Amino acid sequence: MSWTIVSILLLKPFERPLQRKDARLSYDGFLAYLLSPDGDIFNKKHHSVYQDMNQPLSNYFINSSHNTYLVQDQLVGASSIQGYLSSLRDGCRCVEIDCWDGPQNEPIVYHGKTLTSRITFRNVIRAINQEAFVISKFPVVLSLENHCSFEQQKTMARHLKNILGKRLLTTTLDGDVPHQLPSPSDLRERFLIKGKRVGSIKDDIRKYKSSMKGGTRVEKEEKQSQGASHKLQTVPEELSNLVVYMKSIHFNDLASAQAEQKCYMMSSLNESKAKKVSTAGGANFVSYTRSNIVRIYPLQTRIDSSNYNPVDLWNYGCQMVALNFQTAGIPMDLNRGFFRNNGRCGYVLKPSFMTDGHCKFSPDQPTFSGRKGVELGIKIISAQNIQFSRGDIVVRAEVHGVPDDNYTSETIPMENKCYNPTWNEVLYFTIRVPELAILRLAVEGRAFIIGRTLLGQVTLPFTSVKSGFRHAHLLDKDGSPILGSTLFLYIWYHSRMDLEQ
Ligand SMILES: *[C@@H]1O[C@H](CO)[C@@H](O)[C@H](O)[C@H]1NC(C)=O
Ligand SMILES: *[C@@H]1O[C@H](CO)[C@@H](O)[C@H](O)[C@H]1NC(C)=O
Ligand SMILES: *[C@@H]1O[C@H](CO)[C@@H](O)[C@H](O)[C@H]1NC(C)=O
Repeated sequence: MSWTIVSILLLKPFERPLQRKDARLSYDGFLAYLLSPDGDIFNKKHHSVYQDMNQPLSNYFINSSHNTYLVQDQLVGASSIQGYLSSLRDGCRCVEIDCWDGPQNEPIVYHGKTLTSRITFRNVIRAINQEAFVISKFPVVLSLENHCSFEQQKTMARHLKNILGKRLLTTTLDGDVPHQLPSPSDLRERFLIKGKRVGSIKDDIRKYKSSMKGGTRVEKEEKQSQGASHKLQTVPEELSNLVVYMKSIHFNDLASAQAEQKCYMMSSLNESKAKKVSTAGGANFVSYTRSNIVRIYPLQTRIDSSNYNPVDLWNYGCQMVALNFQTAGIPMDLNRGFFRNNGRCGYVLKPSFMTDGHCKFSPDQPTFSGRKGVELGIKIISAQNIQFSRGDIVVRAEVHGVPDDNYTSETIPMENKCYNPTWNEVLYFTIRVPELAILRLAVEGRAFIIGRTLLGQVTLPFTSVKSGFRHAHLLDKDGSPILGSTLFLYIWYHSRMDLEQ
C-alpha cells in the first residue's frame, strides 16, 4: 500500500466526503485531524484507566481535598454540600469532614470557630453516597475530623451505617489482620473511614470472629472491661469499629513511625512538618510511604486558602496531598494535570522505583543505577484565538518535578497579531526523573504597568506528553476549557544515557 492510501485510511474520519474526490486529504481535513484527540498533546490512551489497579493502596497517589465543604474562602465562604458534590464529581477520592456537636443530637459539619455556615452530617453523608461513584468506581476515603461528644459520635456511626449500607467497610476484606493494604480494585465502590480507633485491630478481629461463631463468652468479658474504661474512652466503639484500614496515628518522628506503624495506620502532617520530615528523611521517607499512607494538609495560617506545591511531596511518595481546591493557581493546575492521568479515576500508580523495596530513591539524589532521563525539545509554533489586546504575548514552559527538574523557560514577547501570535521558538529541557515530571505551558499577556495576565494554560504529566506536531487546548485558571484557544507545538524527546557522570 502506498503512503497516500495508508494515510487516507487513517485520516478518513477527519474528512468530509465531498473533499475526498481526488484521494488526497484536504487542508480542512488535515486541520480537523490536528485539532482532534489524535492530534492532542495529551496521550489519548491515558484518558482511560490503563494502570495496574491491583497493587496495595499505598502504591497510588490519591486525589484528595482539604476543606471540601468550602466553596469560597475559609473565613467567610459558604460551607455547602455543593463543595462535596462537585469535588466527588470531579474525581476527588478523599474528602475531609469536620464534625461538631449540633442541636437535637445531630452532628453538624463546618469549619470550627470560623463564620462558615453549617450543614448536618447526615445530609453530607447522603450527598456523598449519591455522588461518590458516578465518575470513578474506585474507593472513597472519608477523613473524619471529629470534634463531637461521645453521644453525637454514636449518631455519626449510625448515619454512616444506615446511609452507606453495604458500601461501608466495617471489617477487613478477608476478616484477618492485614499485612498489606488492599488494592483499589479490591475496594471498588467502597467507603473507607479514616479516623481514631480505640483498641487494636487484632483484638477486634478476634472479637468479630467469635461473634460470628456465636461465642458469647468473649463478648461478655470484653463488655466488662469496656465498661471499666468507658470514662477514659473518647471514641465510642460503634464509630471506632468503622475505622479499618486507615487508623489515624500521631506522627512523632520518622524513625519511630517506621518502627511502630502497621500498614493500616496512617498519619496526617501539615505541609511544614512534612517538608521537614522529607528533607531530613530522604530515601527513608520514600521507603516509609511505600507501606504507609501519609496525608498532607495546608497550614491553618493560610487563611486566604492559598496552596503549597504538591509536587514537593509527591516526590517522596506521599499519597494524599490535600489542597484547598477552591483556590486557583499553579498548585491546583498541577493537581488537575497530574490526575488527568489514568482516566481521571483519582488514583495514579507510583513509578516502580518508588514501590520497589530494592530501590533507594530520593528526589534530592535522583541519579541511581539504570536511570536515563530525557532531553525534551518543545518548538512553540503559534497560539490561536488569544484574547488580549493590551500588550505582548509570551509562552512560558515550566517543568515541575524533583528539585533538579525544576525549570522555567519562556519565549520572547510577541505582538498579538489577529489573535494568533507566532513564535517558532524552541525551548530545551533535560529531565532527570521523567516519571515524576509535570509539564505546564502557560500563555501570558505582558503589558506595561498591569504586568502579567494568565490567558490560558495546559498542565499534564510528562509521561502523557505525545511527540510530534501537537495542539494543546488551553484551560482557564479554574481548569475550564477556553473554546477555540490552542497552542500549536512540535515536540520531541529522547533518552539520555550519560546522566550519571
Ligand atoms: C481532583 O479533584 C479535584 C477536586 O475536586 C478536581 O477539581 C479535579 O478535577 C480532580 N482531578 C481529576 C483529574 O480527577
Ligand atoms: C505543623 O505541625 C507541627 C507538628 O505537628 C506543629 O508543631 C506546628 O505547630 C504545625 N504548624 C502550624 C503552623 O500549624
Ligand atoms: C522550583 O522553583 C521554584 C521557583 O524557582 C521554587 O519556588 C520551588 O521551591 C522550586 N522547587 C523545588 C522542589 O526546588
